[in-house]
Amino acid sequence: MPKPLLIAFLYLPFVLLLLLSSTINANTTQRRQQQFKEAPQYYNSPDCPSILNDAESQSDSIFCSDEAVHVAMTLDTAYIRGSMAAILSILQHSSCPQNIAFHFVASASANASLLRATISASFPYLKFRVYTFDDSAVARLISTSIRSALDCPLNYARSYFAEILPLCVRRVVYLDSDLVLVDDIAKLAATALGDDSVLAAPEYCNANFEYYFTPSFWSNPSLSLTFADRKACYFNTGVMVIDLDRWRDGQFTTRIEEWMELQKRMRIYELGSLPPFLLVFAGKIVPVDHRWNQHGLGGDNFRGLCRDLHPGPVSLLHWSGKGKPWARLDANRPCPLDALWAPYDLLQTPFSLDS
Ligand SMILES: *[C@@H]1O[C@H](CO)[C@@H](O)[C@H](O)[C@H]1NC(C)=O
Ligand SMILES: *[C@@H]1O[C@H](CO)[C@@H](O)[C@H](O)[C@H]1NC(C)=O
Repeated sequence: MPKPLLIAFLYLPFVLLLLLSSTINANTTQRRQQQFKEAPQYYNSPDCPSILNDAESQSDSIFCSDEAVHVAMTLDTAYIRGSMAAILSILQHSSCPQNIAFHFVASASANASLLRATISASFPYLKFRVYTFDDSAVARLISTSIRSALDCPLNYARSYFAEILPLCVRRVVYLDSDLVLVDDIAKLAATALGDDSVLAAPEYCNANFEYYFTPSFWSNPSLSLTFADRKACYFNTGVMVIDLDRWRDGQFTTRIEEWMELQKRMRIYELGSLPPFLLVFAGKIVPVDHRWNQHGLGGDNFRGLCRDLHPGPVSLLHWSGKGKPWARLDANRPCPLDALWAPYDLLQTPFSLDS
């Protein structure tokens, strides 16, 4: 037997053992908690406004500061890898990262201390709070006919920020967990809301607005009149700037809930948390530049179609749609643009060396 072959044979058991242990390892890590790497610390540039902390409460005053950028996101174990990447991307592209306050909303049934510990381990310097959202209260309002994975009660948390966040938080940027920013969030947060708008969001007037509501909605004059005198357009609720003071003053949570109550009695829309937002706000929002929502990158999981970027500049990449970049990367079937998400992935892979 030639020597190289002999060596190969001698090593074969070890190679097999290695392969076997790696598959076993992959299995156990999936069952176990996902482990995340620690992100670097990010610092304010010199011209950032300083948010004075009173010595007693340490970094707490940022949570009520008008100088801070307040970011609201939901947090759950299924999407935490996406949330981590989103947080990292926000910090990395911010010129005043230490002036960002994160408000995370988790389901009351989730292990909030575990979520808190996971965030702290990767972002030891992050200013954040975790709030719990009583999703059983909203579950009562979700009509069972439309209940699906898309429709988990935590999706409705965005209608309740005015109640969940402290009263002193007056403006918040809500972001989905399947996106990354490649621009300074302060620019998005500074979107002017004019004299009376409650929210700003990317608006799509070419989308077929009628599609979001049922024929019984449109054929009912008292209902379809909702949109009379309004230039109602579809907008994306995955990226929103919300004036919480105006929201509270106008009692918009109640208005959204009223539509949800109606939906339970007669079917007026198909999808879950979006149509009540459209009913209350469409035609009354401030449009956010589309660069802040390069959407649809999740593409189509059934046909495995990948989407390209829309023409124009990019400040935020949004993997809305069925496919998620982390799932496709794990399955070794990434779409080309998933390579833009990968640098923000903090997941600790079993064999990666801690650098
Ligand atoms: C990994 O887990 C799946 C399902 O939990 C099981 O079917 C498969 O046999 C496991 N593979 C190994 C190598 O343990
Ligand atoms: C929540 O997670 C912590 C680990 O951070 C664990 O010690 C605790 O038992 C968990 N609680 C529940 C109710 O699962």
